Amino acid sequence: AEKWVLMVTAQTPTNIAVIKYWGKRDETLILPVNDSISVTLDPDHLCTTTTVAVSPSFDQDRMWLNGKEISLGGGRYQNCLKEIRSRACDVEDTEKGIKIEKKDWQKLHLHIASFNNFPTAAGLASSAAGFACLVFSLAKLMNLKENQSQLSAIARQGSGSACRSLFGGFVKWILGKLMLVPSQHLQEGNGSDSLAVQLVDEEHWNDLVIIIAVVSSRQKETSSTTGMRESVETSLLLQHRAKEVVPKRIVQMEEAIQNHDFSSFAQLTCADSNQFHAVCLDTSPPIFYMNDTSHRIISYVERWNRSVGSPQVAYTFDAGPNAVLIARNRKIATELLQRLLFFFPPNSETDLNSYVLGDKSILHD
Ligand code: PMV
Repeated sequence: AEKWVLMVTAQTPTNIAVIKYWGKRDETLILPVNDSISVTLDPDHLCTTTTVAVSPSFDQDRMWLNGKEISLGGGRYQNCLKEIRSRACDVEDTEKGIKIEKKDWQKLHLHIASFNNFPTAAGLASSAAGFACLVFSLAKLMNLKENQSQLSAIARQGSGSACRSLFGGFVKWILGKLMLVPSQHLQEGNGSDSLAVQLVDEEHWNDLVIIIAVVSSRQKETSSTTGMRESVETSLLLQHRAKEVVPKRIVQMEEAIQNHDFSSFAQLTCADSNQFHAVCLDTSPPIFYMNDTSHRIISYVERWNRSVGSPQVAYTFDAGPNAVLIARNRKIATELLQRLLFFFPPNSETDLNSYVLGDKSILHD
């Protein structure tokens, strides 16, 4: 057999939603019930590094996550691989004397090695960075001609939130529209219009500082897939949120971001996190992602903001108890950290590990 191996390595940060995605209208294609907006973290922290390799000597597709082999059998990996292979183009590496033709990609096998630069056990979203990085590195390896938004629609089929990690800065995931088919019926399309677009790049609002307070490193009890399914099936609040609330918030949030309007940004971010968790409570059986410490952090931030008279810090929580805190600037972030360490001293019952993002250091003990 020929001996060559061709490799590509890429790095992708995770993202945190400020207007949440919660609920799918199509589970296979992963099409959401509402638009969402997120901020992508800077690549020094919470990111995935993935190396993809192709060689005629590989006899099957294989993948390792943090050094441990995992199964690619799950439908989501297969869907992403299928989408990418079908778009692969000719690749030529004259230096190595390698020539791969479009049709060869159907029979060549891949090896994929992926690493997270943060403790995987910390209960921090990793699938977003993971699938975004997988799709991006494979697209480079196979010389895809698609742009970032078109690639995001492929990453979406791995994990919904992953589509937003293809861009830095603030990113919107557009839910995509139902299509009018020849029989004049509205029908789900192939999802190609449910994709991410960049609202502003990472330089636009660079005085924001994001701090992740790790409240618990326990694995969440209800996966987002199960949680969303149960919410879609049972929560009336979810229906109201998707139809009446989020569309207005998306417009207001885009405006707040464009204008660096921190007050409006913080108010919308906190309200949307709280509504997402209210939807979880409105689900039958109810889902509890936040715990006592999460609630204490919310009360604490609310009191601080109220005492100053205008928001200094925004909070948002995903499918777990960890707090993502967004400070309006570096000075507030420093103060916030001091206050967090005072109220939640390390080695106490409410021990917090704080990951300071947007700075060169990760602070935790
Ligand atoms: O993409 P998933 O299945 O990991 O779902 C993410 C859901 C939330 O993190 C709770 C919200 C979001 O928009 O990221």
